[in-house]
Amino acid sequence: MTKPLNHFYRFDYETRLTMLEDVVNLTASDRKMLRDSRSDTGNDIVENYLTDFNLPEGLATNFKINGKLYQIPMVTEEPSVIAAASNGAQLVAKSGGFVAKVQNRQMIGQIVLENVSDENKILDWIHSNEALILKTANEAHPSVLKYGQGATQVRLRNLSEGFISIDLVVDVGEAMGANIIDGMTEAVSKMIQSNLSADVLMSILSNFATESLVTVKCQIALETLTTAALSGEVVATKIEQATKLATLDPYRAATHNKGIMNGIDAVIIAFGNDWRAIESGAYAYACRSGKYQPLSQWTKQDGYLVGEMTLPMPVAFTGGATKVLPLVAVNKRIADVKSARELMMVVGSVGLAQNLAALKALVTEGIQRGHMSLQIKSLARSAGATHAELAVVVDRLSKMSRPDLASAKTIISEIRRKKSSK
Ligand code: MEV
Repeated sequence: MTKPLNHFYRFDYETRLTMLEDVVNLTASDRKMLRDSRSDTGNDIVENYLTDFNLPEGLATNFKINGKLYQIPMVTEEPSVIAAASNGAQLVAKSGGFVAKVQNRQMIGQIVLENVSDENKILDWIHSNEALILKTANEAHPSVLKYGQGATQVRLRNLSEGFISIDLVVDVGEAMGANIIDGMTEAVSKMIQSNLSADVLMSILSNFATESLVTVKCQIALETLTTAALSGEVVATKIEQATKLATLDPYRAATHNKGIMNGIDAVIIAFGNDWRAIESGAYAYACRSGKYQPLSQWTKQDGYLVGEMTLPMPVAFTGGATKVLPLVAVNKRIADVKSARELMMVVGSVGLAQNLAALKALVTEGIQRGHMSLQIKSLARSAGATHAELAVVVDRLSKMSRPDLASAKTIISEIRRKKSSK
């Protein structure tokens, strides 16, 4: 067990490392690693800063979306994700590419009243004071009106048991809007408390972003799905069955959706966005009927496999970490994405491509074989292979019928023994 660290945030960087060394077992090389990856930016973003935690960034290639070709940066620790996304994109591009549409782009903030005894009185007051509520919200964040329409609507939901949610619908422009909305809802909350004898329990953005939806579609000519063992028609039927399975079984639906989020999160991180917000919205949306469902559907129609997915995509193109993390600007240039709406369509398309690649692999040869070389590389690295040892370890593991961590470690020890005996 470690000893407590008091007021860690008050100390400068080197003192913090020394304090940490006093309470945990930190080697000189641990300390060097922490120090080598530190940045002023990181130090400015989080409290009790230690270092920047690096994740690999790669490029998902050749996504055709609404007729435009995209090369899309993705940040992920999972070896097969980028290869699978590119593979899905290639299949879709052969039949014309993705068609993506932003349905709407507004965020919702909640001001929740509790212990309401006379619901009708409160509802009437709010109805007749909608203009005042919107004015209060927009005055709390006047700059929002420069790049979006700001708060545009007030909706009421009587949640029963004395709870009423006043939902503020806000056009946040190119931002994700969490800070804007939190400021607006807090201002509205104060105004309501001073005008009504109502208790406000909390005011906050909702991550169930049902007013910020993107729809992505694609259709794939059956022959392009043909594998060495199966016709395209059979593969398409199996992918259709995979959707049906996910609609029937939440155990499968959770994994189906996880595959979609593999792609979505990786792009979201590359663009400096809040991936927890995207995840929480996606999973809530998957459950909107009361039953957890797959986010995408695949059906066979007129000689094509047709894929479709709609989900909340409340991305930020400006503001927050997008401004501060230097690689985000580079990634925007690589992807040639110019607005939040365009980013919504790109991210949705990557999710659908990722899902297609996973389902195709699952219903044909399984996912292990196709991604073996990437997995073996990652196995070798987790067994401790250095970059210089990697090629030899990967080569020897590839020749094994069941490569595992223990064999990787044995190979590495052998390489090192041989080297030291020379
Ligand atoms: C693994 O990270 C993702 C998959 O399990 C997705 C799926 O099963 O659809 C391959």
